[in-house]
Amino acid sequence: MNIPFLDLSRIEESLKERLKNRFAKVLEVGVFSGGKEVEQFEKSVSSFLNSAFSIPCANGTDALELALRALNIGSGDEVIVPAMTWVSTAEAVVLVGAKPVFWDTDTAGLLRNDWEKAVTSKTKAVIPVHLYGKMLEMVDLTEKAKFSGLFVIEDAAQAFGAFQNGRAAGTWGDVGCLSFYPTKNFGALGEAGMCLTQDANLATQIRLLLNHGQPIRDQHEVVGRNSRIDSIQAAFLNVILEDLQVNQQKRKAIVKQYLEAFSGIEGLRLPTGILDSAHNAHLFVIKTERRDELKAFLEEKGIGTAIHYPMILPDMLPYRSEGDFANARRLAETGLSLPLNPYLKKEEVEFIIEMILNFFVRW
Ligand SMILES: Cc1ncc(COP(=O)(O)O)c(C=O)c1O
Repeated sequence: MNIPFLDLSRIEESLKERLKNRFAKVLEVGVFSGGKEVEQFEKSVSSFLNSAFSIPCANGTDALELALRALNIGSGDEVIVPAMTWVSTAEAVVLVGAKPVFWDTDTAGLLRNDWEKAVTSKTKAVIPVHLYGKMLEMVDLTEKAKFSGLFVIEDAAQAFGAFQNGRAAGTWGDVGCLSFYPTKNFGALGEAGMCLTQDANLATQIRLLLNHGQPIRDQHEVVGRNSRIDSIQAAFLNVILEDLQVNQQKRKAIVKQYLEAFSGIEGLRLPTGILDSAHNAHLFVIKTERRDELKAFLEEKGIGTAIHYPMILPDMLPYRSEGDFANARRLAETGLSLPLNPYLKKEEVEFIIEMILNFFVRW
């Protein structure tokens, strides 16, 4: 067997056809920046997530930077960031001239809920990251942030389509940031991202910043940049959104199989809450002290896995910082992501399960 961790060439034929047709249509219309596809994309996401403003941009990292800039966060300010996340979360903070202050996560990789201990007189915001697709407890987080007078920027890059108490990931904070990087549950055929906000003033500011500070052509009011989405990506995403719910069901069905097969195995810890609506089943991350051995074993059997992520941010050269990051560090040492995507075949899922059982039970 050869089961890649994720192989996007496996996108189903019917979707490939619809994408080709949409590309042909965009070519025909001849609008490659802005236009109707981008407008439709904004509307569809707003309606799906029930978000007042859904502002597409070039990628998820830009979305974070735009959010920070729109909230006037910069030099001299501190922003609380979890020690375990994709690098963009801290990168954006540094790019605007502010300082990321790292805090440990819980054992699932979510900002530990005593993060308010990191608040100082310089703290302006906290960035909860819904890592692997699992949402933090947002009522608790937003109440604490309000109490300390902090902005909340949700990094919902991995959590598109997760809902807590009926409210979508990314719509709880002052700004929510999404990524449509191709490997995401809702991914483009290239790069794209989005800022969600429920505040009209912030929406205006974000739109200004991502389009050279122009409210209208040739009128530049602030120093902005170009972080517009490509129309072709918006068009592809409009098509890909049609299949999202079905694909989500496929992911959750595989998760169910994994959870049933692996429950009770000694030395193997499974993700929690992954079948809930507050988790979009982006990644299935198991934890074991034998992680590297298991990864090599599966590799040998033709099963691709991944590590999200092998190093915590405060250990990386550009972000080096001291502190107690024990849970985040354990996750970097023991976490392993198993294949979880709508393109996996029944016999592949069964083979993955069989091999993992072989490793733990019979080996
Ligand atoms: C948690 C997290 N934050 C931010 C990003 C940045 O998104 P992008 O790759 O679209 O810049 C990603 C995705 O790559 C991510 O997983």
